[in-house]
Amino acid sequence: MNKPLLDVLNGRIRNPPPVWLMRQAGRYLPEYRMVRAKAGDFLKLCLTPELAAEITLQPIRRFGFDAAILFSDILVIPYALGQRVWFSDGEGPRLEPIVDRVGVARLGTQLDQDLLMPIYETIGKVKASLAPAIALLGFCGAPWTVASYMIAGQGTPDQAPARLFAYRDPQGFALLIDMLVERSANYLIRQFEAGVDAVQIFDTWAGMLPAEEFRRWCIEPTQRLIAKLRSEIPAAKVIAFPRGIGAGICRFISDVAVDAVGLDWTMALDFAHQHVPLRVALQGNLDPLVLLAGGDALDRSIDGIIDALSGRPFIFNLGHGVLPQTPIVHVEQMLARIRER
Ligand code: CP3
Repeated sequence: MNKPLLDVLNGRIRNPPPVWLMRQAGRYLPEYRMVRAKAGDFLKLCLTPELAAEITLQPIRRFGFDAAILFSDILVIPYALGQRVWFSDGEGPRLEPIVDRVGVARLGTQLDQDLLMPIYETIGKVKASLAPAIALLGFCGAPWTVASYMIAGQGTPDQAPARLFAYRDPQGFALLIDMLVERSANYLIRQFEAGVDAVQIFDTWAGMLPAEEFRRWCIEPTQRLIAKLRSEIPAAKVIAFPRGIGAGICRFISDVAVDAVGLDWTMALDFAHQHVPLRVALQGNLDPLVLLAGGDALDRSIDGIIDALSGRPFIFNLGHGVLPQTPIVHVEQMLARIRER
């Protein structure tokens, strides 16, 4: 069974490159908005296998991407640790903020696997109806990014609440990070057992930290998470997406054992190509706004990325998630351009 995406994660070059998009299932698709409106609640969507499997497959049916990504959210982990999590319409996620070490200690010591069971069931359902050439990706948030939402209780532009917490009480913060390392590894192990082919670790806010804190709260915990995952699933394929780290990618790649690294749209490709060894595949990094804009700018950007990276193991993706206002015809234009070159 030949899955182009797994080929690349195994170090082979594919031309054209396999392609999938972060947030490929979501609000830019009318069929998503329909299911979403009927379900009402976003967490209910994530935790109802019939609905989550349907949404996972929607972009595959419409576009024929080379990978399906499990429809869920990184914040199901705080939810399964007993933190209150909800999604209010138009405002993004909300959590009951953890303000101190006592709040960390109040969290459950184990993931509530009963709550997560529907997610493993979704993986089984998707797997059963996916064509053999298409890879199924699981995922989790990196400990730093998940912790930053758990502490702030919502999205913030600069993750100031979590940075302050970590400066004021590094040991208390380490307790939270260590708990997330253990539980997230356990969660990914269960995803592999349920049938995913590879996983992506989303570290959306990795670029917010000074070098020493980046090492301590992003690099080191992510490396431990992957080591723990591979102690159970030795062949586990892992893609990391440490967003916004710039030249920090050199340190990241030398310390974290990943099969591929996702590049955000600000990363200079000649720099990444030069500093990331060929055994690590690159993934990215089209600006989500150029996909929204379309036209010549879209074609030129796609050509630039492929010209820069087609000589090495490479997966085409965006540099962050698809924006809700993105026209579907632009996604079609993008796929045609990648596949007809
Ligand atoms: O990529 C996919 O298609 C798979 C599903 C997926 C979602 N969220 C669905 C979702 C994945 C992999 C995520 C990851 C995620 N969730 C991240 C890391 C990647 C990133 O985008 O930075 C983060 C930080 C979250 C937390 C989160 N969930 C935020 C900040 C928001 C609100 C922002 C927004 O786009 O509305 C969500 C909600 C969310 N997660 C939606 C979807 C489709 C929109 C929910 C809706 O329908 O209203």
